[in-house]
Amino acid sequence: MSYENILVEQRGAVTLITLNRPQALNALNSLVLEDLIDAFAKFEADASQGCAVLTGAGEKAFAAGADIKEMFEKPAAEFFAQDFFSRWTSHLVKTTRKPWIAAVNGFALGGGCELAMMADIIIASENAKFGQPEIKLGVGPGMGGSQRLTRAIGKSKAMEMCLTGRMMGAEEAERSGLVSRVVPLANLVDEAVKLAAEIAAMPPLAVIANKEAVNAAYEMTLEQGLIMERRIFQVLTATEDKVEGMGAFIEKRPGVWKGK
Ligand code: CAA
Repeated sequence: MSYENILVEQRGAVTLITLNRPQALNALNSLVLEDLIDAFAKFEADASQGCAVLTGAGEKAFAAGADIKEMFEKPAAEFFAQDFFSRWTSHLVKTTRKPWIAAVNGFALGGGCELAMMADIIIASENAKFGQPEIKLGVGPGMGGSQRLTRAIGKSKAMEMCLTGRMMGAEEAERSGLVSRVVPLANLVDEAVKLAAEIAAMPPLAVIANKEAVNAAYEMTLEQGLIMERRIFQVLTATEDKVEGMGAFIEKRPGVWKGK
C-alpha cells in the first residue's frame, strides 16, 4: 500500500518506514499519524517481518515536532476531547509488540524526539539534534518528553532541556544514554537496517518477550520486574524454539526458529 506522508519498504525481514514530509522537516500532523498507525499495524501482523526501522526523509530532520500549523488554531476543548497525542503511544508503543528502531537523521524535536523515544532503540547520525523546545511555544511536551527523556538521561539534563529548549547533539545524546550509537549520516539507514535484521533473525517469541521484560523496568518496582523476568524466562522454556536453541548450542550449529 502506498501512503501520502510516509514511505514503506521491506528489506528482507525488516520494514523500513520513512517519514516523508521533508518540506516541513517531517513535522507530525494527524495524516502522518494515520499513515504510521496503518504501517505499524501491517508490520505487526506480517509474520515475515521481525523488526522495523523508522527514519525521516532528507538530511535535515527525523521530525521537527508535532505540526505547529495544525495545532495553532485548534481549540483547547478539541485537544482534550480527542485526548490529543494519546493515539501515538497507544499504537506505536502499546500495540506494537515487535521491536522497532528509530534512525534519527537530524532534528528530533518536540514530538520528533518523543517519537524517537517511543522506539526500542535509537541510533543517531552525527548531525542529529534532540530537543524539547515546546516551552518556546508556550506549552510543554505532550507525547512523553517530560517522562521518557527524564528516565533516559536523568532529571538535571531533562529539566534543562524542557525549561530552555536547548538541543542536545548526537555525541552528548550517546554519552547521556539516550541513543545506543552514533554513525555517519550516510551509513545511518544501512546500520539501522543491519541491526534490525540481526534482531529479526532471533527467535521471534523470545524477541517479543525480551522487549516486554526490558520495558517492564520502566513501569515496575525492581522486585515486580524481577518476578516478571523470571516468569517470562519460565514461559519461554515451554517453546519449541527453546528446545531448538539449546539443542543447536549443544550440537554446535545455528538454530532454526519456528516462532513456536
Ligand atoms: N510544525 C510545522 N511546520 C514545521 C515544523 C513544525 N514542528 N518545524 C518546521 N516546520 C516547517 C517550517 O514552518 C518551514 O516551512 P515553510 O518553508 O513553509 O515556512 C519548514 O518546515 C522549514 O523549517 P525552517 O525554515 O524553520 O527551517 P530552519 O532550518 O530555519 O529551522 C528548526 C529548523 C530549528 C527545526 C525549526 O524549523 C524549528 O524550530 N521548528 C519547530 C521545532 C519545534 O518547536 N518543535 C516542537 C513542536 S510542538 C510539539 O512537538 C508538541 C509535542 O510535545 C508533541
